[in-house]
Amino acid sequence: MTILGIETSCDETAAAVLEGKPDAKSLTIRSNIVSSSIKLHSKTGGIIPETAAREQLKVIIPVVDEAIKKSEVDRKNIDAIAVTIGPGLVGSLLVGVETAKTLAYVWDKPIVPVNHLIGHIYANFIGEIPNQPIQFPALALIVSGGHTDLVLMKDHGNIKWLGGTRDDAAGEAFDKIGRMLNLPYPAGAVIEKLSERGDPSRFTFPRPMIDSRDFDFSFSGLKTAAYRQIKTIEQLASPQGGLNDKTISDMCASLQQAIIDVLVKKTLKAAQQYNVRSILLGGGVAANQKLRDEFSLKIKLFVPTKSLCTDNAAMIASIAFYNYKPVPWQQITANPELYFNSA
Ligand code: KG4
Ligand code: ZN
Repeated sequence: MTILGIETSCDETAAAVLEGKPDAKSLTIRSNIVSSSIKLHSKTGGIIPETAAREQLKVIIPVVDEAIKKSEVDRKNIDAIAVTIGPGLVGSLLVGVETAKTLAYVWDKPIVPVNHLIGHIYANFIGEIPNQPIQFPALALIVSGGHTDLVLMKDHGNIKWLGGTRDDAAGEAFDKIGRMLNLPYPAGAVIEKLSERGDPSRFTFPRPMIDSRDFDFSFSGLKTAAYRQIKTIEQLASPQGGLNDKTISDMCASLQQAIIDVLVKKTLKAAQQYNVRSILLGGGVAANQKLRDEFSLKIKLFVPTKSLCTDNAAMIASIAFYNYKPVPWQQITANPELYFNSA
């Protein structure tokens, strides 16, 4: 089965063609195109929804076109279209949803609505099925710019939400603290890089909710702690001192460690409580090598290749392959508030 995936939930405009073998032995990427408007947003330190939607409109047709051309699949041989319907920014989502609906109507193809968050989990199901495939029940940690969620997957399409952030998402904490440190937006990957030469034990930051009985997270307190620490350093600064490169690296390493400690401990606790057979990571923060390494020290886990951690359309086609539930195009609408109530 060949699926065209379309993803426009935020600032990436993405289209991909995936080819799956009927016995689900492999799901191969034929093309995977991502166009990002992030450069425009890094100037403002955050995403401006109106700008993101306008950029989506400009590039959606060229991106879909390029994905089909690169795939070398004849359009007639595309069996279905999968599209992200939420969660996300309404203006951005509408561009992908209306494009997908139009193509489904004009080309007379089935269309599958997809939840972006679950898409992040399905980035793990792309590729050749390894010798030790993902086994259920599985636990997935989704860590992105907008979400931090732990979900239990009993099977394809059988997903139970266990907990999530009560305030900022993990990626959001990276981005907001990065802004305080005058780092470019989005800051996650930059903080990871600076942390490599930083001392994670120099600053003591809180590990919010690390021992709470539930599977919820909270990262906004960390942001406040970072703000106070930065102000203290600035006030005490000698002419040579202050927020110099060494201090920024140490602060990045200390903050990164605090976030990782919470994510790892709570995920392992959930894995034990639900006796899962696999752990999966997904979302932009899952590209963080330190996070991957700390998990790997303790447990075997599945993580997508880094390019499939951040937003892409291959993961959207993947979820549709494993959960093939087409819906008449007239019934498909963008749903910015969509959560885990629909696969
Ligand atoms: O999944 P994603 O591309 O978009 C959303 O659906 O939100 O995630 C973007 C988030 C940003 O907050 C970014 O700072 C973070 O992922 N991120 C990272 C890394 N790469 C991206 N955070 C930590 N370490 C990284 N290497
Ligand atoms: Zn995402």
